[in-house]
Amino acid sequence: MELVPVNHFAMRYKVLFAFVLFVGPTSFVFARRRHSNRYLSNAIDAENLKIPASNVTAEKIMRYFLRRDDSLITRRSKRQIGEETLPNNTINNVIYVIDSSNSIREENFQKGLRALVYLTEKARPDTLYAVVNFATDATVLTPKFISENETIALLPTVKRKAGLTNTQEALQVCKDKLFGSALSGFDPAGPKNVLLVTDGLSNMGKELTLFKAFNLKGDGVEIFVVAVGGFSFGMQEILGLASSTDRHLYRVMDMESFVQVANLIPSLQ
Ligand SMILES: *[C@@H]1O[C@H](CO)[C@@H](O)[C@H](O)[C@H]1NC(C)=O
Ligand SMILES: *[C@@H]1O[C@H](CO)[C@@H](O)[C@H](O)[C@H]1NC(C)=O
Ligand SMILES: *[C@@H]1O[C@H](CO)[C@@H](O)[C@H](O)[C@H]1NC(C)=O
Repeated sequence: MELVPVNHFAMRYKVLFAFVLFVGPTSFVFARRRHSNRYLSNAIDAENLKIPASNVTAEKIMRYFLRRDDSLITRRSKRQIGEETLPNNTINNVIYVIDSSNSIREENFQKGLRALVYLTEKARPDTLYAVVNFATDATVLTPKFISENETIALLPTVKRKAGLTNTQEALQVCKDKLFGSALSGFDPAGPKNVLLVTDGLSNMGKELTLFKAFNLKGDGVEIFVVAVGGFSFGMQEILGLASSTDRHLYRVMDMESFVQVANLIPSLQ
């Protein structure tokens, strides 16, 4: 252990004291102004910063993303058919948009893929999938939509790109190469969903991110977001990306929690 001379301590203490004297009143004034001007918006931010319990998120995913008509709480075999649940004969179309940028470590990236495998296993077996992997650029791994089994086989082979976070390009290829193309083989009668799994703010073409999301939603695509991490910064973009905050935004602390959430969803039947 390093020994610090006593006078060094005293000096640090003085510097700290001077800092508090100088900065203290300033931050107090700022805090008061924020409080009066942005009271409502601060309350909303605080609400959005909370990460719900895993079972609450699992229930939300089950209901709104998987569109299953059973529930974690009651396990009733049939819930009253609401507007979110699918009629029997329509097929759910899903694009998994996977952030594989630098900020996600390899180990956590693998966990994220595993969580997606679990979600796929819990979804209705006739669901159709496409997969987009993105970092500095976006790659469509499935030129045509594929089945549940093919998706479960594909996901563990997805490679982490490492690079920047080009979310806007990922959203653009969802439109150009998948939902915007009749050749991609999705079921036009069924709902069109994007599930974006990301740990942070876009940092390439970021001024286009919300615009591209808006365009996709304009085409009738629902954007669901799994937001991984604390997000003390960058929540604003996530809130703008998701089609709604109450049904389309799923917050988890880390990829391990995402795996837990996916595990909490019961298998069909
Ligand atoms: C989640 O679990 C808590 C207890 O741990 C329980 O009180 C709550 O009702 C559960 N919520 C859901 C949606 O299952
Ligand atoms: C869905 O299918 C089940 C049998 O598979 C049937 O009992 C039920 O009535 C159907 N529901 C609708 C809304 O068509
Ligand atoms: C998918 O795999 C399961 C288990 O391996 C099998 O029972 C099922 O028939 C397969 N479905 C299709 C559509 O290939």
